[in-house]
Formats: sequence, C-alpha cells, structure tokens
Amino acid sequence: MQQRKHLLGMRGVSATEIDEILDVANSMKHILSAPSKKSAHLTGKSIVTLFYENSTRTRMSFEMAAKYMSASASNISASTSSITKGETLIDTGRTLERMGSDVIIMRHPMSGAPHLLSRNVHCSVINAGDGMNEHPTQALLDMFTMRDKKGTIKGLKVAIVGDVLHSRVARSNLWGLQTMGADVTFCAPATLLPPEFEQTGVHLTFDVKEAVRGADVVMGLRIQRERQQSGLFPSVREYNQFFGIDDEIAALADKDAIFMHPGPMNRGVEITSSVADCARSTIDEQVANGVAVRMALLFLLTRRVSA
Ligand code: CP
Repeated sequence: MQQRKHLLGMRGVSATEIDEILDVANSMKHILSAPSKKSAHLTGKSIVTLFYENSTRTRMSFEMAAKYMSASASNISASTSSITKGETLIDTGRTLERMGSDVIIMRHPMSGAPHLLSRNVHCSVINAGDGMNEHPTQALLDMFTMRDKKGTIKGLKVAIVGDVLHSRVARSNLWGLQTMGADVTFCAPATLLPPEFEQTGVHLTFDVKEAVRGADVVMGLRIQRERQQSGLFPSVREYNQFFGIDDEIAALADKDAIFMHPGPMNRGVEITSSVADCARSTIDEQVANGVAVRMALLFLLTRRVSA
C-alpha cells in the first residue's frame, strides 16, 4: 500500500496489499470495541464523501471511520450541491481539493467516474461504487469477514448468487477473491450472468443448488431493479422460486457455511429472513467490519500521501 494513492477497484490489487489492509482493519476493530472509540491516526486530515447515488452503509461507515480517527469528515450529496447547476465532476473535485480535502470518497452511477476524477486531482480518490463496475471497499469488508470467520480465504468455496450482471460488488469480489485464491462460483438467470466472467477462471451456473452445494460461503446479491431493463426475468416471485436463498437451499451448503449479503437486502426476494437472520448469517458483522476496513484504508492511503 506504500505506493498506492487511490483505491479505484480490486482489479490489480495484490494479495500482499489485501492482506495488509485486512491486518490493519483487525487492529482498527480494537479501537471500535474500546469505550472511547477514538484514535489520533487521522488528526489534521480532511475526508469528503461525494455521493451521486444513495447510500446508507458505505457513506456512513466512511464518515464514522474518519471521525473515529480524528479526521474532519464532510459530505456532499449531488442533489443538494452545485452539481444541480451544471458543475462538472472535475470542477467539483477540484473545488473540494482546494478546500483542503486529503481524500475524496466517491459514488457515481457512471462506471469509470472515480478514475476520471483521480486523473484530475492531487488528493486520494476512493471508489465507493461506480455504476456496474466496482465497489472495492465492499469486497474488502466481505473478504475481511470471510477471513475472520474461516481463518483464511485461500481455498474457500464461495457461491455468489443474484443479479451478477448489474453488481459492482460481484466484480470487486471476483477480482479480490481470485487474487486471494478462493474457488468462486457465480449463479444467476442467464440474462443476469455475464458469460465473459468465465474467462477469469470462476465457475458460472444457472443452477442455485449446484452453486451452493458444499459451499463455505454463500453470498446473496440484490436484484438491482433500478439498473435493469424490463424482461430480464419474468417476475420477482419466479426469481425467488428458482434463485432465492431459503432454508432448503442453505441446507445444501457446508454445515459450517456462512451466509452473506452486502445490503441493502430485498428480504423474500434474493434471501429469506430465516437465512438472513440465522446464527450463521454474517450480514450484521459485515456492516460493523465495514467501518474497521474503511478506517484501515483511510489510514494507509493518507499515510502514503503524507510520507
Ligand atoms: N453495500 C452497500 O454499498 O450499501 P449502501 O448502498 O447502503 O452503501
């Protein structure tokens, strides 16, 4: 991480870098469990979240991560800023940088938008989700949770089921899990499963039972109705019948399997409440781990900038 200024995606992030982020996140977890929840890691730093799309988990966890480490944290949402007056992304980014931002954390509906910003500002840029491309910090917190629960990522059998086509979480997990040596299977209806994924060495299947059988990790993905054209599957009811993760499907996984979802969930569509709320569900832990992982990343990136 010493050489890295931005985190724009998991593609190209090495296993050494991933291990370093996850190791530092483990230390950050101790700060989160302390009574004062305060450290001086980011004293004097200024962090801005620039979100052109809605978010609960990602935006709040970055803001809380910054505040727990004594940085100043500010938020701009597209709907209440001068973006509505026609200001370009680059002008907005440069404006924030002139005000002293050390890190801009950005979510945008267009794939590649954070990459464009990173080429036009001097501060660090973190991709908090760009279109259908990547959501690297979600994959990092997912991998942190897997490693925490299973001891290692290497060799884990991971089944990822849902709207793979529109999912930036799927793409970031694809690159990250491949790098860390997991055995990954993606499962979706044919209309939501990009065939080019197969070239990366993962398995693809339309059969949820085949995907989940013997898996160590089962991850549901949200059906992203906001990014879909109509006609990609006949109905939500039919999707749930053939691809939903319910008790019967969950029982096919390894007896110690964990059940994950990046959130927000459509309960009763891609996952039933009985699985989402079961003892082996890690969905709440993923949210908590997200703060620790984002603390680690902010620390490592700003340390590099000030080095
Ligand atoms: N998982 C995730 O990105 O959630 P938010 O959209 O709430 O940030």
